[in-house]
Amino acid sequence: MGKDVIVACDFSSAEQTLSFLDRFTGRKPFVKIGMELYYAEGPEIVRQIKARGHKIFLDLKLHDIPNTVKKAMAVLSRLDVDITNLHAAGTSAMMEAALEGLTRPDGTRPLLIAVTQLTSTDQASMERDLLIKEPIDRVVMHYAETARRAGLDGVVCSPLEAGKVHDACGADFLTVTPGVRFADGDVGDQKRVMTPAQAKAVGSDYIVVGRPITAALDPVAAYERCINEFVDETGIRE
Ligand code: C5P
Repeated sequence: MGKDVIVACDFSSAEQTLSFLDRFTGRKPFVKIGMELYYAEGPEIVRQIKARGHKIFLDLKLHDIPNTVKKAMAVLSRLDVDITNLHAAGTSAMMEAALEGLTRPDGTRPLLIAVTQLTSTDQASMERDLLIKEPIDRVVMHYAETARRAGLDGVVCSPLEAGKVHDACGADFLTVTPGVRFADGDVGDQKRVMTPAQAKAVGSDYIVVGRPITAALDPVAAYERCINEFVDETGIRE
């Protein structure tokens, strides 16, 4: 899979999500389904969106003992999503078990990526609550390298970290980056942002874009602007 824009469908019902997706009559966006929508509607919403021809990133961030994650991943692999994820904090044993569970009898599997430290965790809370005293950027890189050694395909990270992750883990190790905003758009609650063109320049493989598309007056135009800036060679605008 090449570079693509993943639209974060952070809606709480199938009705809202499907009527949002109905607007896209041309190119079908790669869709991110997160906990809110999945817990509201269950696996059926994944099947429905898949049946409409969208690629899917199922963002459920699994974290449990290896055996439980392996079995849960085996169930998720039957949903035929394209990307799913887990917390690297579950350790290599959990990540390796997840890969085993995710691999179908024919040897195929969805891509599996890891969350390192959540962007809501900062140095102070990591030291205080998790008793991790190393600098947070070192912790993030260590988790990325552990994920790569466990055989995972990439990480979710800030576009500001994408270059460093590729340097440490290789050009093929995927960087899936939220925190993307248009140059003339609202930043909202995202603290460290890049435009789609900047994310492309630093080597992000996939950008995850939510509100700049879902809350736009014309979501299809906003999506196409992302595609032009991030994917199309000719469409780079600063
Ligand atoms: O609306 P917005 O573009 O901020 O949406 C970004 C999406 O990426 C949301 O679904 C959010 O939960 C997710 N995300 C993030 N930062 C992370 C990990 C995931 O914004 N570190």
